[in-house]
Amino acid sequence: MAERVLRCPIPPITDQYRHHVGERHLDVGPGTGYFLDRADLPATTQVTLLDPNPNVLAHSARVLERFHPTVVEADVLKPLPVADTFDSVGLNMVLHCLPGPPERKAQAIRNIAVVLEPDGVLFGAAVLGRSAPHSKPAKAFLAIANRRGGFDNREDSLARLREMLSESFADVEVTEAGSAARFVARRPR
Ligand SMILES: C[S@@+](CC[C@H](N)C(=O)[O-])C[C@H]1O[C@@H](n2cnc3c(N)ncnc32)[C@H](O)[C@@H]1O
Repeated sequence: MAERVLRCPIPPITDQYRHHVGERHLDVGPGTGYFLDRADLPATTQVTLLDPNPNVLAHSARVLERFHPTVVEADVLKPLPVADTFDSVGLNMVLHCLPGPPERKAQAIRNIAVVLEPDGVLFGAAVLGRSAPHSKPAKAFLAIANRRGGFDNREDSLARLREMLSESFADVEVTEAGSAARFVARRPR
């Protein structure tokens, strides 16, 4: 779906995981654990998985069991109930699922910024809303996904994404990729 309809290539996302995951990594909304599983991480990587859905946590923890992950059942829109700070945080394909508008989603970025080390990195990708250059099938998919598929991203634009990241981070890179955007943010404010 991401590659064909949304024209968002998967290999650069896997590469983001390969390049940016640090010794202590927090993955917010890990889904099936697909990207962490393929990131060629050292077995010593300390992985924490955070998601409000216990089934997601159980599944991804099983897939990633070689890292003995810590699981945290929580909502990224609320202060994160974690005791540690992290060298890296992955927020991949999660923002478009969070309730809009983008100003509300910005709370997720603030919550992540406070649990990152000063030299830590936040990275991820998100499907953009109306303003992005969607293909016809992507437009149809997004209309349905916003009506009943767990997306709430109509107002999410490249500019709003850059703004919400820049509010919490001094160094922000955003790259458009088809219907989506990849991002890397450093130097939490
Ligand atoms: C589309 S999946 C992305 C999965 C994975 N990151 C990937 O890229 O393959 C969205 C994930 O975000 C999680 N999620 C949804 N709302 C969330 C919230 N409020 N806080 C944290 N995670 C959330 C979902 O349970 C799911 O694991």
